[in-house]
Amino acid sequence: MGFHSLLLLAMLAWTLVSARKCQNITIPVQISARNAAFDVAVPRSGLEVTDFALDFGRQGNNYSQSILHDYITVTGSYQIFATYCSPDDGPGSVLQILTHGIGFDKSYWDLPFNNFNYSYIAVAVDQYGYSTLAWDRLGIANSSHGDPLAEIQTPLTQAALAALTDHARKHHSPGSPDGSFKIIHVAHSFGAVLSYGLARDDPSATDGLILQGWAMEKTYFSYFVFGGNLISVTDLTSAYEAGYLAAGNQAALHTNFLGPGQYDPDIVAYAYANGQPAAMGELLTIGGAMYGTSDFSGPVMVITGERDLPFCGGNCYVTGDNNADSIPDMAKRFFPNAKDVNVTIVAGGGHGLNMEYGHETVYRAMNDFLGSSGLSAQSSRRDVAE
Ligand SMILES: *[C@@H]1O[C@H](CO)[C@@H](O)[C@H](O)[C@H]1NC(C)=O
Ligand SMILES: *[C@@H]1O[C@H](CO)[C@@H](O)[C@H](O)[C@H]1NC(C)=O
Ligand SMILES: *[C@@H]1O[C@H](CO)[C@@H](O)[C@H](O)[C@H]1NC(C)=O
Ligand SMILES: *[C@@H]1O[C@H](CO)[C@@H](O)[C@H](O)[C@H]1NC(C)=O
Ligand SMILES: *[C@@H]1O[C@H](CO)[C@@H](O)[C@H](O)[C@H]1NC(C)=O
Repeated sequence: MGFHSLLLLAMLAWTLVSARKCQNITIPVQISARNAAFDVAVPRSGLEVTDFALDFGRQGNNYSQSILHDYITVTGSYQIFATYCSPDDGPGSVLQILTHGIGFDKSYWDLPFNNFNYSYIAVAVDQYGYSTLAWDRLGIANSSHGDPLAEIQTPLTQAALAALTDHARKHHSPGSPDGSFKIIHVAHSFGAVLSYGLARDDPSATDGLILQGWAMEKTYFSYFVFGGNLISVTDLTSAYEAGYLAAGNQAALHTNFLGPGQYDPDIVAYAYANGQPAAMGELLTIGGAMYGTSDFSGPVMVITGERDLPFCGGNCYVTGDNNADSIPDMAKRFFPNAKDVNVTIVAGGGHGLNMEYGHETVYRAMNDFLGSSGLSAQSSRRDVAE
């Protein structure tokens, strides 16, 4: 498709949703990363998937390490599918790039459930005046799929996030005369691992981080692997090939994402029906991507549910460390130069905070934090006279 027809399509896709304009866009990226080459067969049958989970989640054993054969540079062209939204009185000069985690796609930030009552984008754009760019992660939903073992891994997806960020700086900056365009990376779970990695490897790529459903802790990841009761996604849909793994049933999704009593019972079925799988290459490389301190000097918020399963093992307040109030609080050590590290623990909350009753409080905390850190949309809007 030529540039002009893309542009035309983009213009046709403009719609007015309450007080915002949203546009679906496809962004071509040319990326390259050093992926791992694993010596393992792609599990196809239900039995093989369960054996994979048992091998992978076993304590005292680094399975990714044990099957690591080599590192190889993967280079390719991919399409990233994203939704860009801005307030209807103009884009302002602060953009939030929204990265979803495992189990979902970009609709995590704009859940149609209950007539969009749970939409993060509605709050960030309509109430706070930010622009947003929510993307389907590489390999997921309507972004390019790929080989789920060799290709769709954390390093390549982090490269996609870096390319998307570059694209946003070039194409979604309102071009304010004082050049004050800012990009904030807002992310959930695996998306937060990717956003942490981006800020660690290139601190100038971002102006602020909000890491939701995250902590710098790998110990409990196996709870998530076992809790997911994984199956091959090919049992559910032909949209993906074998090597993409999905939650086995509603109970599995509930276990991994929702705190007891914190959710509308109907959202369990909704989230399961609209869930997305993870590539096994992603699962095998998450741990390896969680390392290192970050020189990032801007503001950071970590906001995680007290009952988060994958990062806190269901209890963020038991740390085994007298110097840390909570497991997410330990993140402060990994951001020694940050302007401010705000760690907020959501009482009773599970891992998928956007899907719980507490979502409104969570969204306010996230956007208020940006305001209190000098990154409010209003203060840097061109059209606001001081
Ligand atoms: C954008 O894509 C989503 C699927 O991700 C679809 O539900 C929605 O209707 C599309 N919106 C527009 C304006 O085309
Ligand atoms: C969502 O629903 C709740 C409960 O009905 C209501 O109080 C709240 O204002 C709604 N929020 C939005 C953003 O529509
Ligand atoms: C891609 O988008 C179309 C329509 O927007 C949808 O029907 C389809 O299920 C999507 N593919 C995946 C893998 O989610
Ligand atoms: C497993 O080993 C890999 C490769 O050496 C390493 O990068 C990773 O951090 C380890 N994973 C965990 C969970 O410790
Ligand atoms: C973190 O930010 C929220 C939202 O601005 C604020 O209410 C809370 O007091 C902050 N927490 C700390 C420890 O400063």
